[in-house]
Amino acid sequence: MIRSTVRSTGMYLPERIVRNAFFEATLDTSDAWIRERTGIEERRFAAADQATSDLAIRAARDALDRGGLDAGEIDAVIVATSTPDLTFPSVATMVQAGLGMERGFAYDIQAVCAGFVYALANADAMIRAGLARRVLVIGAETFSRILDWTDRGTCILFGDGAGAVVLEAAEGSGDSADRGILGIDLNSDGRHRDLLYVDGGVATTGKAGVLKMQGNLVFRHAVEKLAKTAHLALDRAGIATSEVDWLVPHQANLRIIAATAARMDLPMERVVLTVSQHGNTSAASIPLALATADAAGRLQPGQVVVTEAIGGGLAWGAVVLRW
Ligand code: ACO
Repeated sequence: MIRSTVRSTGMYLPERIVRNAFFEATLDTSDAWIRERTGIEERRFAAADQATSDLAIRAARDALDRGGLDAGEIDAVIVATSTPDLTFPSVATMVQAGLGMERGFAYDIQAVCAGFVYALANADAMIRAGLARRVLVIGAETFSRILDWTDRGTCILFGDGAGAVVLEAAEGSGDSADRGILGIDLNSDGRHRDLLYVDGGVATTGKAGVLKMQGNLVFRHAVEKLAKTAHLALDRAGIATSEVDWLVPHQANLRIIAATAARMDLPMERVVLTVSQHGNTSAASIPLALATADAAGRLQPGQVVVTEAIGGGLAWGAVVLRW
């Protein structure tokens, strides 16, 4: 049986660190409110001359270096993003060119904050179908470009960044046969469009638009749906919650993460947290958290890792893998 296993991870964060106090100058908000209600202390914003593909290429190079790979050994590039450089071509083909790849195929996936979970599922399907043996899966965003700086309920939440994972086919029996992606659950429900959307686009306003969110309603859906999708993915993997070593959640809000961990009976020591330093980087948040934990030596071979996310759509899902 073919399994998709993690070869390496990588990440890139823009240099500019923006602390909560930055927003106190222009908005009726405070560092204390933001910390207490979201867990966020700081986030990164890309420089004016940095686009999403620039961040994605840096994260991809890091993942290739850490995996001891050349770009020529990659068969496919999938980028999860809602903030592409251009309407087309895809960010993924820009990454392909940026890495100097002359073969393979590349495309973007758009499922907002659930994008990386969808991209992992997509890469896994490609590998199992025999269409690619090694896939570079990237989450990359520049949400600072679609924020309403007058809306204290949204602009304080988001940051820019990119994370990457190299997934590769593993075959056969023995230890390696147990590793890799073991269970997936994906969902969306378009009836909730108005809870979280960007009010622009090429076919409507012709402008990029800004993010609009009914935060407290999204919060309620998140708490209700995330533990459920994680449990469904674990069931499909045939793994009990008690066997989970790490929950690596989408980093939107510390209170959502804590509520989900509680519903899964997981102590917070087993949860990877980056929200305080990165803010919500949408599709980039899970690969950034994976790469951060991996670089710190926290994710060890054989450990069970659960990722989950929810975002605009609404779209949500979970992936269970053995590291
Ligand atoms: N500073 C001070 N006060 C604020 C701020 C702020 N930055 N933001 C909102 N408030 C106020 C509100 O105006 C409201 O005031 P009012 O009672 O006078 O009307 C009060 O705080 C409570 O507002 P709520 O929205 O109920 O606050 P809540 O505790 O829910 O926190 C937050 C808001 C942080 C946005 C939270 O709802 C949240 O994290 N929601 C989920 C976000 C999320 O996970 N999104 C999904 C992924 S994102 C994606 O897919 C792109």
